Amino acid sequence: MSFPLIVVTGATGQLGQTLAQLWAESPLPQYQLKVLSRSELDIAKAGMTDAVLSELKPSVVVNAAAYTQVDKAESDSESAALVNAQAVGAIARWVAANQARLIHISTDFVFDGTSKTPYSPDQQTGPLGAYGSSKLAGEQQIQALANERSAIVRTSWLYSEFGNNFVKTMLRLMGEKEQLSIVNDQIGSPSSTHGLAALIFAMILHQRYQGIYHWTDGASISWFEFAQEIQGQAMQEGLLSKAIPISRIPLSIILLLLDVRPIAS
Ligand SMILES: NC(=O)c1ccc[n+]([C@@H]2O[C@H](COP(=O)([O-])OP(=O)(O)OC[C@H]3O[C@@H](n4cnc5c(N)ncnc54)[C@H](OP(=O)(O)O)[C@@H]3O)[C@@H](O)[C@H]2O)c1
Repeated sequence: MSFPLIVVTGATGQLGQTLAQLWAESPLPQYQLKVLSRSELDIAKAGMTDAVLSELKPSVVVNAAAYTQVDKAESDSESAALVNAQAVGAIARWVAANQARLIHISTDFVFDGTSKTPYSPDQQTGPLGAYGSSKLAGEQQIQALANERSAIVRTSWLYSEFGNNFVKTMLRLMGEKEQLSIVNDQIGSPSSTHGLAALIFAMILHQRYQGIYHWTDGASISWFEFAQEIQGQAMQEGLLSKAIPISRIPLSIILLLLDVRPIAS
């Protein structure tokens, strides 16, 4: 008898790599895992999604693949919509037709960011840009096609030892620069992919998931405070030889310097 299969999309991403690593260290009993790269499953190709999933017959699909270039999405909204919405629809359709389950990762960018308190899953969405709109459209595809069989996990400010993220950028810049100016008026909740990956496997193990969930590591801090924390911990761990001054800067100044206008709500 073979164990039920979990298929993960987006093998080369931060979350995809973390899921693979966590599985290698501590696999779920009585499950198998396959983590697929874009060449093995390009979710933008609906025919490929159907063919690959029909061949593998997973019990659970974890969709960790996404178009994640937030700025580029503004000028390439069709690609963002293809990967983050239409492709998600194709996965949801397969899941519904084959009595499988779907865990899909979404983002705080589905909100307009004006709330002064943490968002709850049932709060009104209102994305400001193409990336957030495409991710919200993906959620809506799931709700329309496979709602009872799916969990949507919204997270924020993901970081890990893999790929590109704020922590890695800060550590590099702190090793190269004499001082840094970091935005202090954007507040968010940094989230390690390791915690998110553990949550995903726990959901599968306990078979209790349906609807929209919010997952972060729990802090509400600015990029400036996050940078300070990164430097403090890196010094303690011996990852940096010296601490550099970090100053606060408002987002509006950066946008002015870059000649960028904020996206209107
Ligand atoms: N990063 C964040 O701060 C953040 C915050 C909130 C929510 N999220 C969400 O969390 C999830 C995981 O994010 P992440 O940071 O791990 O993303 P990531 O590191 O940017 O990885 C994205 C992955 O998606 C893959 N991909 C893109 N287009 C694809 C396609 N057409 N077919 C198959 N794979 C494709 C990429 O493959 P290639 O390497 O081939 O391009 C890559 O493996 C995403 O849903 C994202 O929207 C991220």
